[in-house]
Amino acid sequence: HYEEDLDSVIIPSGLIKDRTERLARDIVRDMGGHHIVALCVLKGGYKFFADLMDFIKTLNQNSDKSVPLTVDFIRLKSYSNDQSTNSVKVIGGDELSALTGKNVLIVEDIVETGRTMETLLKLLNECHPKMVKVVSLLVKRTPRSSGYRPDYIGFEVPDKFLVGYALDYNEYFRDLSHICILSDRAKEKYKV
Ligand code: IMP
Ligand code: MG
Repeated sequence: HYEEDLDSVIIPSGLIKDRTERLARDIVRDMGGHHIVALCVLKGGYKFFADLMDFIKTLNQNSDKSVPLTVDFIRLKSYSNDQSTNSVKVIGGDELSALTGKNVLIVEDIVETGRTMETLLKLLNECHPKMVKVVSLLVKRTPRSSGYRPDYIGFEVPDKFLVGYALDYNEYFRDLSHICILSDRAKEKYKV
């Protein structure tokens, strides 16, 4: 039902799965020595988070030194229409103090300016985790970037507005399996 709203598919779901498995291997190699708390940044991160956790869980179970893996969910709201705003709001999640001494893995859908992650990292570091790593499925190549780079990156993508695989435009398009470029027409159509 979204056909005419999309310019093109840029990352098909099969490719996302393959890349996610590779990322899981890298993460377990680096973080698998100690209790991992995986922190999902909702809502855009939920598909990537679920798939990544499945891969990490399997690798963890099959390793001879498997570690506890627990999860938590937070929401950060920074967007209205397709403009990044300066304010970032943290909503929900357990007490951040639960992260003290843990290996924390932040799971994000897309990094654009990097401001959202920089703000969140500042907040988390106040709880003195043992280690904090950030994995983002996508990183946008944009002149608006603050220079921030996540520890693990799935794909670098062009400076277009992307939807699908849980990424939304005003809550639409999360129910799309592939990552696609949103058409200008659709931006108008689903504007709030
Ligand atoms: P940043 O603070 O500019 O790095 O913005 C990151 C947040 O903006 C992400 O967590 C996304 O929720 C949202 N975002 C940025 N670009 C896109 C996009 O192309 N599609 C959907 N959401 C996006
Ligand atoms: Mg996000």
